[in-house]
Parts: sequence; structure tokens; C-alpha cells
Amino acid sequence: MSLERDWPLFGLHIETPRLSLRYPTDEDLDALNAVASQGIHDRAVMPFEIPWTDDPPEVRPRNSLQFWWALRANWKPHRWALNLVVREGETIVGVQDLVAAEFAVTRQVATGSWLGTAFQRRGVGTEMRAAVLHLAFEGLGAERATSTAFDDNIASLKVSRALSYVENGDEIKSVRGRSRRAIRFRLERQVWQRNRRGDIQIHGLEPCLPMFGLDQKNA
Ligand SMILES: CC(C)(COP(=O)(O)OP(=O)(O)OC[C@H]1O[C@@H](n2cnc3c(N)ncnc32)[C@H](O)[C@@H]1OP(=O)(O)O)[C@@H](O)C(=O)NCCC(=O)NCCS
Repeated sequence: MSLERDWPLFGLHIETPRLSLRYPTDEDLDALNAVASQGIHDRAVMPFEIPWTDDPPEVRPRNSLQFWWALRANWKPHRWALNLVVREGETIVGVQDLVAAEFAVTRQVATGSWLGTAFQRRGVGTEMRAAVLHLAFEGLGAERATSTAFDDNIASLKVSRALSYVENGDEIKSVRGRSRRAIRFRLERQVWQRNRRGDIQIHGLEPCLPMFGLDQKNA
């Protein structure tokens, strides 16, 4: 209990009719590693800007733990990266991220996500993005959400388009030593508001607000 008192993110969760998204415990991180080890994408493609899934299997889980622990250790109210473990029923299926810098001023968030291959193409990716957008816009008072995907990542592009994001330019990145085009998307608050869901609930946010650089008045 004192862990949740001192690090209230452990009490934060979002519920949709299909999914729950929670701040991960170390046990959840271990379970996420097991999902990731089963595969996230075809090895011939690389959907991530940092190709972490290319790490050799004997070190990839350790590297992932270190990455997730770094997110915890480096959390600041003016620069945070929230990684949420996604469950469908009791089954852990993947991760949904929400990231911001100077959020209290910019009111802008970015998202990123992955699912184990066994859990893809069943609408979960769209549902978990909708859930974290609810946290951003309804819970935290965001004005804009952004997302970026490589131009060959049909699933991610479709999720953004299905949730009414619009294209916002592109950029060229170097991945695996090759040039790739990433498409940027943005979703403004008023567009989200028109399409907002009425069946998503946020729990345990209030004690976390100072961690997001907010107080009750400006959330
Ligand atoms: C991106 C990701 C989270 C989307 O989740 P998902 O559950 O697969 O997506 P959904 O089932 O909600 O599908 C969204 C749309 O994409 C389509 N789609 C999903 N995977 C696809 C694929 N491999 N090829 C073509 N279309 C695909 C779905 O059919 C659906 O289309 P529809 O709206 O016309 O029905 C998931 O595919 C994933 O983890 N991919 C690997 C990691 C990754 O790319 N992360 C994002 C980096 S930017």
C-alpha cells in the first residue's frame, strides 16, 4: 500500500469494455517480456525507430527491463513517459505508451504501442489507443495527441485514421541502416470531443496529477 501512496501511478488504471490498462508492476514487466519473446512483428520488417526487437534473445528481456525501469527512474513532472500494460480479461497482450514534455504548458502528448502477434488484428490496438486518448484528453486535459508510424505500417496507420487523426507531415529516419519515411499524425481536442467514447473509465488519477505536472485545477 505504501508503494501506491508514494508512487501513485501504481493505482492508475483505465477500463474499457474489452481492456484494462495499468501502470505495470515488476511482475507485469516479466509477463510483458514473455509476450514480446513470442514475437511482435515479422523479422523482415521493423516497425520501431529504435530496433529493440532485433536484440539477441538472451539479452533482449534484460534490456527491456532496463528500459522500463529507466522510464520509472527518469520520471519528472515536466517530462514523463507512461507505459501501461494492456490486459484483455486476465491475459496480458501488450503495451500502450503516453509520453509528454512540459505537458502543463504544451498540452500535447505522443503515443506508441505494441501487441504480441497472437493478439493483433482483433481491434485491440484501436481500443487501447482510444483508452489512452481518453486518459490524455478527459483525464489530463490534453489539447493535441500525436502519433508517428512508418509508411509501411498499415496497422498503426489504420488505427490513427480510424480514431480521426489527420496527417501532419513526414520525416525520414535511419532504421537498420536504411532510410525510412515516417508519417506524422495529430488529433486535436475538438475532433476527439466529437467522437469521444462514453464507455471508458479512468481510476486512481487524482493522486497522480502532480506527477503529470498538474494539480486538480488545471487537469
Ligand atoms: C500497431 C498495432 C498496435 C495495432 O494493433 P492491432 O490490434 O493489430 O490493430 P487493430 O486490430 O485495431 O487494427 C486496425 C486496422 O489495421 C488492420 N491491420 C492490423 N494488422 C494488419 C496487418 N498486419 N496488415 C494489414 N492490416 C492490418 C486491421 O485489419 C484494422 O483494419 P480495419 O480498421 O480496416 O478493420 C499492432 O499491430 C502491433 O503491435 N504491431 C507491431 C508493433 C507496431 O507496429 N507498433 C506501432 C509502432 S508505430
